[in-house]
Amino acid sequence: MKVIVADNYEIMSKEAANAVAAQVKKNPYSVFAFPAGGTPIGFYAELTRMHKEEGLDFSHISGFILDEYIGLPKDHESSYRFFIHNKFFNHININPEKIHVPCGLAKYPEEEADTYERIIKGTGGIDFAVLGIGRNGHIGFNEPRTEFGSRTRPIYLAKRTIEANARFFGGDPDAVPRQAISMGIRTIMNSREIILLASGVEKSHAISQTVHGPVTEMLPSSVLQLHPNCTIIVDEDAGSELKPSPNGFVPGSGVRTMIY
Ligand code: F6R
Repeated sequence: MKVIVADNYEIMSKEAANAVAAQVKKNPYSVFAFPAGGTPIGFYAELTRMHKEEGLDFSHISGFILDEYIGLPKDHESSYRFFIHNKFFNHININPEKIHVPCGLAKYPEEEADTYERIIKGTGGIDFAVLGIGRNGHIGFNEPRTEFGSRTRPIYLAKRTIEANARFFGGDPDAVPRQAISMGIRTIMNSREIILLASGVEKSHAISQTVHGPVTEMLPSSVLQLHPNCTIIVDEDAGSELKPSPNGFVPGSGVRTMIY
């Protein structure tokens, strides 16, 4: 597993944006999975800058959001559809027909999830998934105890996730939806390449367990140890509990790269 520790949040965001830009240039028709949340905001800002200042062309990519709350209308300011448009898609030249977000108000969420999974498969699968991580090691909204074989489906949010995400709902945990539709672990693991971003000391334990701990459904992100092409990109705080790699590290500009 490759881990890049960046000196700070800004450099972490740029590293991640550079990886996505390289993928877009390598294959302009790439299929991406993208996260919402606080962590990727700088990453989306950097990709937006690359589009506006350097002409990075997103016109052929497909973008699937990893998850969406159940019960929020499309234009709700805390919905992930709103988030990804507001922070990213509205500022680049992605084709609206290639934007995919599960509908949080679908009458039958199970069917909505199955359809989402089918659409992902129909594109040929995800080439490049960008992930965040919960303090409890969730990826997407796959909470601890999620089966590694899971596909896109409705899930219940863990209490810790509801508490952590209350900050996007005016600080009120009661306003956070209890359910979401999330890509499954298997869906994510089928991606050809994965990067996971984490920032802040509150993610440091989850990150060290993801890299050094046992592969267990109790920590969903630990499954990434089994992925053949996964890079974890963290800032100094999120990487603060990592053990030194037995192979040492490769220094770069504002980053050091370790292989575990
Ligand atoms: C969001 C998602 C989640 C978040 C995670 C971290 O689409 O899939 O796994 O990435 O909850 O959220 P932040 O970045 O807000 O700490």
